[in-house]
Amino acid sequence: MTAHIPHPYPAGMAANFVLTSRAANFEGRSLTLAIELKGRPGQAIGCVGVHEKAPGAPEVGYWLGKPFWGQGLMSEAARGLIALSWRTTRFRTIHAAAMPGNFASRRVLEKCGFVATGEAIIAAPARGGSLIAEKFELARGEAWEAREFRKCA
Ligand SMILES: CC(C)(COP(=O)(O)OP(=O)(O)OC[C@H]1O[C@@H](n2cnc3c(N)ncnc32)[C@H](O)[C@@H]1OP(=O)(O)O)[C@@H](O)C(=O)NCCC(=O)NCCS
Repeated sequence: MTAHIPHPYPAGMAANFVLTSRAANFEGRSLTLAIELKGRPGQAIGCVGVHEKAPGAPEVGYWLGKPFWGQGLMSEAARGLIALSWRTTRFRTIHAAAMPGNFASRRVLEKCGFVATGEAIIAAPARGGSLIAEKFELARGEAWEAREFRKCA
C-alpha cells in the first residue's frame, strides 16, 4: 500500500532510511518522526512524516506496525504532526495520496479533515514504477482549528 517501502524489505534499508530521514529533518527538507506508545517510550512502532515534495507542496505519509493497527494510533499521530506543521511552517495546504483500495489510510486522512481531490498517477518506485492513487488535500484555517477545538472541548 506504500509507494516507497518495498516488500519484502531489503537488509540495510532501515538503517539507510533512518540516516536519510535524520539528514532531511536536520536540513528542514522534511520532518519524519518515529511513533512510540505513551507507555512504552523508546520503542518505535511506526513512522509519520511530512515532506516538501515540491516547493510549498508538503505531503504527509505514514505506516504503522501491523500489531498496532485499528486502535486509532495513526489518526492521533497524523493529527499531531499536522498541528505541528501548521505551527512551524507557512504552508497553506498539506497533500496526501492513498491507493484506491487503502481504506484504512483513506479513513485516517478523512478523520484528519482531508478532502479527496481526484485520481492522479504518482511515482511508486517500491511498486515497480508508477500507479494510480487518490489525492487528498487539507487546507490551513478555520475548519482545522474548529475541528481540533471540538475534539478538546
Ligand atoms: C494506514 C494505517 C497507517 C492505519 O493505521 P491505524 O492506526 O490502524 O489507523 P486508525 O486506527 O487511526 O484509523 C483507521 C480507520 O480506518 C478504518 N478501517 C480500517 N480498515 C478498513 C477497511 N478495510 N475499510 C474501511 N475502513 C477501514 C478503521 O475502522 C478506522 O476508522 P474508525 O476510527 O472510524 O473506525 C495502517 O493500516 C498501515 O500502516 N498500513 C500500511 C501502510 C500504509 O498503508 N500507509 C499509508 C500509505 S498511503
